[in-house]
Amino acid sequence: MRKKIIAGNWKMNMTYEEGQKLTSEIVNMYKDESISDVEVVLNVPFPHISTVKKLIGSTANVFVGAQNCSDKEEGAYTGEVSAKILKSFNTDFVIIGHSERREYFNEENELLATKVKKALEHGLTPIFCCGESLDIRTAGTHIPNVKFQLTQSLFDLSPEEMSKVVIAYEPIWAIGTGKTATAEEAQEMHLALRRHIASKFGKDLANKTPILYGGSMKPGNAKELLSKEDVDGGLIGGASLKSRDFVDIIKSY
Ligand code: G3H
Repeated sequence: MRKKIIAGNWKMNMTYEEGQKLTSEIVNMYKDESISDVEVVLNVPFPHISTVKKLIGSTANVFVGAQNCSDKEEGAYTGEVSAKILKSFNTDFVIIGHSERREYFNEENELLATKVKKALEHGLTPIFCCGESLDIRTAGTHIPNVKFQLTQSLFDLSPEEMSKVVIAYEPIWAIGTGKTATAEEAQEMHLALRRHIASKFGKDLANKTPILYGGSMKPGNAKELLSKEDVDGGLIGGASLKSRDFVDIIKSY
């Protein structure tokens, strides 16, 4: 049995008050509606981390995450936030390699490999994002393309390190566009990635690796996507900003 994980990614949204309200609503619904078998992660902008962590309190299976961390350990890197600092604020997870970081901040596979290592060294769980552009999907080379992203960023990890990584497959053409991969398209990619992980780290480890789907997941399409054998959860952008929608996605499992 693999873990089921629903992770929200607030991206660059939510003021202090809005973030507090959203977190409290999600935590209360999670408790009141007796959800317990799905792990929930709120990946929030850096300044929210402490407050969100406090609001989560001792709620089992609800965690706080960041959306990025530095590849450097510490020092004179103005504006950067290290994995070490994140851990000292009791951060649990960190998204690494989101397509928006790859596109707008030129983050490439080799750099992301270093960030994943840093996160693991400091006890954070990396949610490693991968996915193809529309051009690559149209050309039909999406599976080798996404497998290559894993090879370059994750295949230098030890099996012990790899066993702590969560993967999120996010087709870029489905992010924030309202277009979703069909459940079959998601399943095809997730299975290909799982087999790819097995080819390097063995079947047991691959079978335990959570692979989340991201890209316009909403209450209306979550059930079908999450019903697929190799889809182990979701990384939710837009719909994670509304407590009812986000909790309804969690409850689609
Ligand atoms: O990290 C989340 C993904 O980018 C998906 O965003 O649900 O708004 O399409 P979205």
